[in-house]
Amino acid sequence: MVSRRAFLAGAGLALGGAALASSYREMGLDASAGQIREEVVTVPIPNLPAAFDGYTIGFFTDIHLGIWVPTEWVVSGLDRIRAHKPDLLVLGGDYILATENPLWPMLGWVRNPRYAGMDVSDSIPFLFADAAELLSTYRPRDGVVAVIGNHERWNSIDLFWKAFNSHPGIRVLVNEEISIVRGEQQLLVFGSDDFLTGIPRELPAVPQVPKRICRVVVSHNPDYVSALLREETPAFSFAMCGHTHGGQICLPGMTGLAAPVNDRRFVSGMVEVSGKQVYTSRGLGVVGVPFRLNCPPEVTIFRLQTA
Ligand SMILES: [Fe+2]
Repeated sequence: MVSRRAFLAGAGLALGGAALASSYREMGLDASAGQIREEVVTVPIPNLPAAFDGYTIGFFTDIHLGIWVPTEWVVSGLDRIRAHKPDLLVLGGDYILATENPLWPMLGWVRNPRYAGMDVSDSIPFLFADAAELLSTYRPRDGVVAVIGNHERWNSIDLFWKAFNSHPGIRVLVNEEISIVRGEQQLLVFGSDDFLTGIPRELPAVPQVPKRICRVVVSHNPDYVSALLREETPAFSFAMCGHTHGGQICLPGMTGLAAPVNDRRFVSGMVEVSGKQVYTSRGLGVVGVPFRLNCPPEVTIFRLQTA
């Protein structure tokens, strides 16, 4: 039997939640999270082998599939990347967002009802399986490589591996690299373990064959790249990262204040440091709150260019 006081408290919370939900939609905050922007970025690389001049990489990160990110956003993001016909697709980690807070459905802040009624532990296998399924629907010429983000280990690394191993078209790199070969020239793509929850390792040296080989680094968290840049001769030319969401909520004059990165140079966009290019994507999804402000979600197309 529900007491009168509990009933009134519950009704008050529900009414307050409904008012909040409608006001955040009226403010345009709901739409802000789903308006994906394509960022087409030229990456100048001095030692780029000629065979890779014009090579394109699609970068899709922080999709955070869950109650706030519907399947359609992930499909739409992939479609945008596919339209550019990249040579390689790179997935930057943080594939899901599992939330057990019952407040969100009560507030009406649910865009993807598939996971809204599930307990968090029940939802995780579905989230990872659905993410892997969706992300394996597009395979460019040189394939798909992926790295691990903090949310993989925070939820369940075993369930992550179970889901992604069932889609062998996605090659997950944990302190490993692949070599893409064109004749005698190579592009190395090194995927690091997550900086926050894993054990990233130092980069192996690149053979000194000018204009024949160069390396691209993929790291979920830009703080790993920051550590690489402190080495005497960082063994990479270009690094791509996610994790920050660009700050997600960017109040005027305080851009990226909430971005969880120690090195504030790498909140969002491209930065050149000592001749190395470092790009941080705002990613697709949201965490903490279901909206973005002055910080649209993105998919990224990199076009490598001889500098
Ligand atoms: Fe993330």
